[in-house]
Amino acid sequence: MENLQVLILAAGKGTRMKSGRAKVLHKVGGNALIEHVYRAAATISAHVHVVVGHQAEQVKALLPAAAFVDQKEQLGTGHAVLSARDAFRGFSGEVVVLPGDVPLIGGDSLEAFVRFHRDGGYAASVLTAEIADPFGYGRIVRRKDNSVDCIVEHRDASPEVLRICEINSSIYVFDATSLFEALARVRNENSQAEYYLTDVIGILTSRGQKVGAYKTANPVEILGINTRQELAAIDHFLRTQKCEALMSEGVTIVNPESTFIDLDVQVGQDTVIHPSVQLERGTIIGEDVTIRSFSRITNCRIGSRSTVLESCVLVDSEIGEDVSVGPFAHVKMGTTLEDAVKVGNFVEIKKSRLGRGTKSGHLAYLGDTTVGKNVNVSAGVITANYDGTKKHETHIEDGAFIGTNSTLIAPVRVGQDAFVAAGSTITHDVPADALAIARERQVVKEGRAPHKKKK
Ligand code: UD1
Ligand code: CA
Repeated sequence: MENLQVLILAAGKGTRMKSGRAKVLHKVGGNALIEHVYRAAATISAHVHVVVGHQAEQVKALLPAAAFVDQKEQLGTGHAVLSARDAFRGFSGEVVVLPGDVPLIGGDSLEAFVRFHRDGGYAASVLTAEIADPFGYGRIVRRKDNSVDCIVEHRDASPEVLRICEINSSIYVFDATSLFEALARVRNENSQAEYYLTDVIGILTSRGQKVGAYKTANPVEILGINTRQELAAIDHFLRTQKCEALMSEGVTIVNPESTFIDLDVQVGQDTVIHPSVQLERGTIIGEDVTIRSFSRITNCRIGSRSTVLESCVLVDSEIGEDVSVGPFAHVKMGTTLEDAVKVGNFVEIKKSRLGRGTKSGHLAYLGDTTVGKNVNVSAGVITANYDGTKKHETHIEDGAFIGTNSTLIAPVRVGQDAFVAAGSTITHDVPADALAIARERQVVKEGRAPHKKKK
């Protein structure tokens, strides 16, 4: 929107969270609170400023496109806005102020709110909601003619004011000039000895300036998170919505209650997700995929018709079409499984690539390994990729066969169609088409079984 900038307040510690981590870094629906708020803000303005303080570096890292203002000491929401005064010097348009802890706010609602503010010709407008349990929120005090008088914090409210159910969402539009003029007069004579942004409203009205109150039709959007209980409740709300949306698009979710899907995850039609599955941030799943119970998939792509069996952990990896993984497989760190690969029970694959049609069915570790097409990696194969100091690569070319319980000591290469006999410890390259046997020959001593005495 024209001539409008946004300021998000995200410097607070969030004392009520009882956390070592700044409140706005806590996550709902797979994204930090501040990411949700920033996303909504960015839909109405290209100029989004964020006031940071507690764990500023972590907050900044999440928002590469934002501008930042440091609030060294957190002396209240009014003080937070005042810290941004220099960022708005010479700007005479509108400033939308948002708290960093309202993750459900939508861009459309913000836009409608700004239009209300403009249509009314107000110096400031506050987004409010009528809610059944206003505990903890600032209350909107209106005059006899129904116009806004001021906002009173819960902690500072009289019993009469506490009965008001119209609450302050902490989302505002201000005329920039009026905002900073009024802020200069805010004092900290209240129960928390803080500089309250809410006081700006009373200051403006007492000077005869008009303040609008826009009551939202959708109070859920302005819910602020202050406690772990509220964090869990909003997370549940978002995840329920996400499952609903995916089901509407043709995904089967057997038990939505136990299914955790981050908001940015994409899932194709006719995919079936069994109970107790977690699909996390960055994951894109194709069509007709089956994900069985107790699997966690983070930042992976999974091609159509693939199957992830029970209890797998798949992280930062790319999985092709018609692949079968699990049960109990661990695939991680930039691994690629090409189409029609089969990875079975208790197989760990790290930073490796398996070519089309390759199989590793049981009890194997492949790390820093490039495997060609149609390779058979038998049970118990281990790539010894770490010498205690450095990691080394293993290459296994197309059509090779690695027998059971073999150790491939990297760096090493097994050529095309080569065969490594079971139980081998491979320390040197194996040429194409060769048979490599690297183990002691069996010795048989007749009648010498020691465990039964001769009669
Ligand atoms: C605030 C409002 C209250 C409103 C509620 C809605 C004030 C005084 N009160 O209360 O009327 O009903 O939001 O959710 O404004 N922050 C800073 N620097 C500071 C203090 C806070 O950046 O010095 C940030 C916080 O990180 C947070 C936001 O401001 O993102 C709101 O602060 P919070 O302490 O949650 O305010 P509430 O007590 O919820
Ligand atoms: Ca809050």
